[in-house]
Amino acid sequence: MKKTSSLSELGFSDAATTAFFRQIKDVAASSSAAAGDADAPSQPNHRIKISIVGAGNVGMAIAQTILTQDLADEIALVDAKPEKLRGEMLDLQHAAAFLPRVRIVSGTYYAVTAGSDLAIVTAGARQLPGETRLDLLHRNVALFRTVVPPLAQHSPDALLLVVSNPVDVLTYVAWKLSGFPPNRLSGFPPNRVIGSGTNLDSSRFRSLLADHLEVNAQDVQAYMVGEHGDSSVALWSSISIGGVPMLSSLRESDVEFEQAVLERIRKAVVGSAYEVIRLKGYTSWAIGYSVASLARSLLRNQHRIHPISLLASGFHGIPDDREVFLSLPAVLGRSGVIRIPSVQLTEEEGKRLRKSAQTLWEIQQQLGLAN
Ligand SMILES: NC(=O)c1ccc[n+]([C@@H]2O[C@H](COP(=O)([O-])OP(=O)(O)OC[C@H]3O[C@@H](n4cnc5c(N)ncnc54)[C@H](O)[C@@H]3O)[C@@H](O)[C@H]2O)c1
Repeated sequence: MKKTSSLSELGFSDAATTAFFRQIKDVAASSSAAAGDADAPSQPNHRIKISIVGAGNVGMAIAQTILTQDLADEIALVDAKPEKLRGEMLDLQHAAAFLPRVRIVSGTYYAVTAGSDLAIVTAGARQLPGETRLDLLHRNVALFRTVVPPLAQHSPDALLLVVSNPVDVLTYVAWKLSGFPPNRLSGFPPNRVIGSGTNLDSSRFRSLLADHLEVNAQDVQAYMVGEHGDSSVALWSSISIGGVPMLSSLRESDVEFEQAVLERIRKAVVGSAYEVIRLKGYTSWAIGYSVASLARSLLRNQHRIHPISLLASGFHGIPDDREVFLSLPAVLGRSGVIRIPSVQLTEEEGKRLRKSAQTLWEIQQQLGLAN
């Protein structure tokens, strides 16, 4: 169908959209809802249901933010600890008089999540003293084997959003396991499986820059991409403040800055999570807001651009046959990842991204999920 917009009526090329955006691998072929603009039809009486697996610090911060922002008609909580779970559910239900009307249910079984529009996974094992990151990952893969298949079975049309760490590898694991139930021929299409990725890292990056420049963080466009955490890549070349490209405008003003300074700022962004953990033991509020912002863009079909972990095969020189999930800015809507803007990376940025992709791919080879 021919696209019409005010700009196309003024003669601006419709080809601009295709030139500016791409889709992730296999999306067009995987399902009709996956294809670009073919978003789910709007259903006026549809009640939005969000399930959250893992009622720990992160899961409950997400639940509370979703609740206060009125993003769901029903919230289902799942956790392996029945008493803690019931306590959390009751505590939220007791706030009913102060909140929008939302049904809150909970259970240690997955039938409680049936018919979810969005399933968020925050369940995760904690690192034991002396345990390697790889051993922890193996334990989390075992945990995901008990979480993802029943979630997918009870909500075959849901969007799946992974928050548990290491988020990029576990998003890949969730995607692979979403096809696990014997009654499904294939797993979820990749546009419906995403990780919270660097949405939070980018928010930390924007708030640091905003603080320094004394502007509102919402007027700072700045992305961290790649792997969530230590090796995330700051896209310095594309930062803009109120539409003004930051680095080129500093260069024109003869303001000196060195690569080392930029790297120190990136490290400070990464280190900010460790600082919060050192001070209070865990992070919760910022990830709660970050995930709620993703839920809003997805379920309200906002077409907002967020850096999230997605199937990155074929982007920025990552080989087509390497199924890795990494964060790239993506347009999000009711069908999940709709399109990916063709972000320009410098040679160094591209190199770092491909290095992360290679590391993640090598780790994934040890998980036995490749096919
Ligand atoms: N992606 C991000 O930006 C980001 C930010 C912060 C935390 N995290 C990650 O989120 C995860 C949760 O962190 P947290 O601080 O809430 O931990 P937590 O220990 O407080 O909560 C984890 C919850 O998962 C539950 N759980 C464990 N196994 C389960 C299972 N098989 N089924 C259902 N529930 C199960 C536990 O009972 C617990 O309530 C961690 O992996 C953490 O690293 C990610």
